Amino acid sequence: MSNLLKELERIEKSGLADLKKVNDLKGFEKLRIEYLGRKSKLTEILRSIQSLPQKDRPAVGKRSNEVRTSLETGFTKTQSRIEQEFSLERAKDIDVTVPAARQHLGHIHPNTQMIWRIEDVFQLMGFEVFEPYDVDDDYHNFTSLNIPEGHPARDIWDTFWTEEGFMPITHTSSMQNRVLRKRKPPIRAVVIGHTFRNERTDPRHEHTLFQCEGIYVDKGITLSDMIGTLKTFFSKIFEKDVNVKVDPDYFPFVEPGNGMALSCTLCDQKGCRVCKYTGWLEILGCGMIHPYVLKEGGIDPDVYSGFAWGFGVDRLVMLRERIEDIRHFHSGDLRFIRQF
Ligand code: DAH
Repeated sequence: MSNLLKELERIEKSGLADLKKVNDLKGFEKLRIEYLGRKSKLTEILRSIQSLPQKDRPAVGKRSNEVRTSLETGFTKTQSRIEQEFSLERAKDIDVTVPAARQHLGHIHPNTQMIWRIEDVFQLMGFEVFEPYDVDDDYHNFTSLNIPEGHPARDIWDTFWTEEGFMPITHTSSMQNRVLRKRKPPIRAVVIGHTFRNERTDPRHEHTLFQCEGIYVDKGITLSDMIGTLKTFFSKIFEKDVNVKVDPDYFPFVEPGNGMALSCTLCDQKGCRVCKYTGWLEILGCGMIHPYVLKEGGIDPDVYSGFAWGFGVDRLVMLRERIEDIRHFHSGDLRFIRQF
């Protein structure tokens, strides 16, 4: 038995001494197997206790456990020492004065950025922002806007239809009736959302685009209010004074109906490819809300009048950022999106 106790003494001493000398995790792991592993001398002694004479067992058992605990503590301490030395060593290579690398945080799509701008400007002008339903019914997209079934003007909008007679909205005018019914004059509202057209795509046409619809209804509203409102809006968006030009146009839900053009923001009306050397950019449809539309919205056209407009958000982005092909917007091409 005294031999066993001596052997335990030796194991503990040499284990603790070896731990002092080890400096890396690989060597540490080797020692751990040598001193505490399944085939280590200590484990062997612990296993042999059962076969010792009864009287020797308590002393050898007690001493074996002491040695095990002492070695385990030594190993834990050594591990933290090695880890600490390792990180200090690494920290030496780190120059804490170097500026942080630029994080790639992603980009907000230019359409979204423009929508935020539009909302900001109109909200500052006292307008409320609504979102349309992506899929709506015939009444809201057409009939309530003075375009009954069979009306030839329906052909203006190349419509996708569901089998049940619903459609992905062809324009955000689809919300006019709901806004008129929900609010009492004075009504100032813009509706911004996706619209969908069954179109062949080319550099200027997409099947899915964003539109901004707007309405203003109160007593005594005239065309000059419309021109003033929209001129102010576009000047804010382009951050310079723009001129607008109003021409007659036809939309069933406005009377008179108009098209509005902006003075070319790229060449300041000197003439360029984008404005086709006319100095003007066709940008939106607008007009005085048709009495039928007001009536359908629960508003008395003999007391109130109003104007409405609709324009494509994508087109505005194209003009502001000089983008030549509308199809870039849905391309998912990171080279495009990273520029904004
Ligand atoms: N909804 C029309 C379109 O998609 C745009 C428009 C024209 C809206 C005239 C209006 C308007 O409110 O008065 O082409």
